[in-house]
This record gives sequence, C-alpha cells and structure tokens, in this order.
Amino acid sequence: MRQPLVAGNWKMNGSRASVRELLDGIKHGIAEVGGAEVVVCPPFVYLQEVQDQLAGTAIAWGAQNLSTEGSGAFTGEVAASMLLDFGCKYVIVGHSERRSYYGEDDALVARKYAVARAMGLVPILCVGETLEERETGVTEEVVGRQMDAVIDLEGVEALQDGVIAYEPVWAIGTGVTASPEQAQEVHAYIRSRVAGKSTSAAESLRILYGGSMKADNARELIGKPDIDGGLIGGASLKADDFLAICRAAG
Ligand code: 13P
Repeated sequence: MRQPLVAGNWKMNGSRASVRELLDGIKHGIAEVGGAEVVVCPPFVYLQEVQDQLAGTAIAWGAQNLSTEGSGAFTGEVAASMLLDFGCKYVIVGHSERRSYYGEDDALVARKYAVARAMGLVPILCVGETLEERETGVTEEVVGRQMDAVIDLEGVEALQDGVIAYEPVWAIGTGVTASPEQAQEVHAYIRSRVAGKSTSAAESLRILYGGSMKADNARELIGKPDIDGGLIGGASLKADDFLAICRAAG
C-alpha cells in the first residue's frame, strides 16, 4: 500500500511575511488531512523559517534543486549537505522549468538524483512531455528517456528511494489539467516501465501528478490506480487550497 504524498512546489514565490502566514495556515489545518504525507518545498532562503516552524509537526519539507557538487568554489550553488543541515527530507530534481530555462539535461538531472540519494535525501524526479511532443505522439518515448537516464546511471533499485512526478509541460501553470484518463495512462506506463526491470520497485514507487492540480480536480486524479498524489505549484501558495488537495489525497 503506497501512502499518498502531496508536495507543494512554491517555485520562486513568497516573502518572509507570506511564508510565515502560509506555514501558519498549513499547520493549523494539518490535523484534518488524514492519511496523506504532506511536504512543502520553499525557495532555499526560506528553509530556515520552514525548519523553525515545521520541526516536530507531521509536515516534511524539501528543496527545489541541489548541486551535484559536495562543497567548494561553485558560486550560487547549494549542496545536499546544506539541505540536510536545514532538515530537508526531499529535493525536486529535473523540474521542466529547470530543464527548459536553465539547460538541465537528462544526464545532469540523473547526477542530481544520484547525489541526493547518496546523501539520504528523497529525490522527486520530474518527467513530462511538451505539447508538441504529445501532439506528435512521442510522450512515452520522452518520459521513458527521462526515466532511463536515472535507471542507467543508478540501477532501477534507485527509483525505490525516490518519487517520480509526471508533469506534462503543457499543464504546468496553464490551468489546463491533464484529464484523469490522460494522466493515468502515462502513470501506468511509468509503472510498467519500472516493472519491466523490477516488480517490487514498481509496486512501491510513488508517482505524483503535477500540472494545474486544484482542490476541485485532485480527488478524481488521485483516485486513479497509478496516481499516488500530487506535486502542486500555484495551488500550494494558499493554505486553504493546498489543504483541500491534501484532504482529497488523504
Ligand atoms: P501548477 O500547479 O502551478 O500548474 O505547477 C505544477 C508544477 O510545476 C509543480 O512542480
């Protein structure tokens, strides 16, 4: 039985004041969430505040990116050890915004996955196709290639230590959500691809859906057999909206 997981990806949003308010709101409603695991991923600079507020609660936290390097002369980078220092459990790797705006390719994403895993962080590997790729019928090829970069580097067992988030690029921040059937189809494909190499890894792997997930579509999406939760962008910035998704998952 896979525990549902709902993670909020705050992206580059917030201020000290708004972060405090958001955390207060989430903490206030967390008791009603039920069985879902809840995670927030703030910008790096707010990790201290998040750790101060969430330590000892049922809410876990993580970062949105990490360096492949351990320490040293890498201006602007943040190491896995630093994330651990601030109590992070999770780290997002390979988000489509990092792939498209910051040139992160499959090989770099796989190395980030490997470093996170080696350091004891739980990587959330984002995969997903663009609209053009969907329309030309190569969704499975793209998602398969993104998964294989990690499997080839680390072995299929590595997926047992992480989470996969299927985020169709055309659904991110657009208000256009994949239909539950469209999402389930790709989730089932992801699981079957893993099952081809390890049935136990496939059974335990949590696969989240991300892309305009909201309180009013979360229940139907997460109700599908291979959708184990959500990676939430915009709707994770308001406590009430985020908690409603967490309750739907729980
Ligand atoms: P939205 O929920 O804003 O579409 O963002 C999804 C996402 O990119 C989460 O990582």
